[in-house]
Amino acid sequence: MSSLSSGFIIFGTLGSLLAFFLILYLNRSTRNPGKTTGHNYDGIEEYDNPLPAWWFWGFIITIVFGIGYLLYYPGLGNFAGLGGWTQAGALEASQEAADERYGPLFAQYLSVPVDELVNDVAAMRMGGRLFANNCAVCHGAAGTGSEGFPNLTDGDWHWGGSAEQIKTTIMQGRQAMMPAWGPALQDQGVTEVAEYVEQLAGREVDAALATAGQERYTLFCAACHMPDGSGQPMLGAPALNNESWLYGNSRLRIEDIIRHGRNGQMPAFAERLGEDKVHILAAYVRSLSTQ
Ligand code: HEC
Ligand code: HEC
Repeated sequence: MSSLSSGFIIFGTLGSLLAFFLILYLNRSTRNPGKTTGHNYDGIEEYDNPLPAWWFWGFIITIVFGIGYLLYYPGLGNFAGLGGWTQAGALEASQEAADERYGPLFAQYLSVPVDELVNDVAAMRMGGRLFANNCAVCHGAAGTGSEGFPNLTDGDWHWGGSAEQIKTTIMQGRQAMMPAWGPALQDQGVTEVAEYVEQLAGREVDAALATAGQERYTLFCAACHMPDGSGQPMLGAPALNNESWLYGNSRLRIEDIIRHGRNGQMPAFAERLGEDKVHILAAYVRSLSTQ
């Protein structure tokens, strides 16, 4: 916060406390106790009496409390407060308390193999909540993904679908590297190889173009996508011999990816969630495609 707005807040806050106090102080007693103010409303007269004592002191206590509060907590602009309280600190403390309380709950599942955990209703309910909180933003509430974010329910895995592989994906994250082939292949080459990719996917294609594309595919693509287009989980290279596309199924899109490459990134969660929770999540992700 700039020192100008900090000063403004301090001035406004302390100024109003002072104003409250002055209003109270100046009205604490009257010069004419027991007399009327002279105001008369339909025969009802207004007496010029001071505030009841309990009310007056109630106000004083509130003002003193307010000053104490502003000294202890950060309420006055940039002044951090004498108590050292911060929002981040409070969040951390409550997270620690939660970890202490729920930690054992998650830890008990760590010894259960992922493929058994899939059948544990309580664990899967936990997994569902973890998924909603940490994964749904990218993979969708149901795990069905969207363009650039893989569908986790279709059984088509870029990085492998075994319990171990899925767990590694979530723990360490993944960085896909599809190079840009535009410069090497030129327009004609991109057209040909895209034709062959469509053939791999089982579409009707121009045979001559696809044959030319196959040569280039063997040369440039087979190392990662494999000669039969079945993909390579070690590299996150997707299978191209099916109609499951991460980046869209149109010819235009396929050519665009071949020309410019793609670098999809799955963030790592080891630090943020710890192995206990990732273990449960791996089972939950498995359950999305197997049940
Ligand atoms: C910031 C977005 C983002 C978040 C959050 C995210 N992911 Fe991912 N995830 C991705 C992307 C992008 C990929 C694909 C990476 C690539 O291009 O290969 C991916 C890939 C994966 C894969 C591999 C899929 C395959 O086909 O092999 C799994 C499994 C996965 N995520 C699970 C999770 C889980 C579980 C969570 C929550 C703990 C999560 N993701 C959170 C973006 C995200
Ligand atoms: C170095 C390994 C590597 C090579 C070589 C390679 N690719 Fe890829 N390719 C990948 C990876 C990894 C991805 C996934 C990118 C991502 O998830 O962001 C990918 C993605 C794709 C996709 C998108 C698939 C989808 O589901 O949307 C197409 C199409 C593709 N590659 C075609 C090709 C063609 C054609 C060639 C040869 C000209 C080629 N690739 C060469 C690694 C490679």
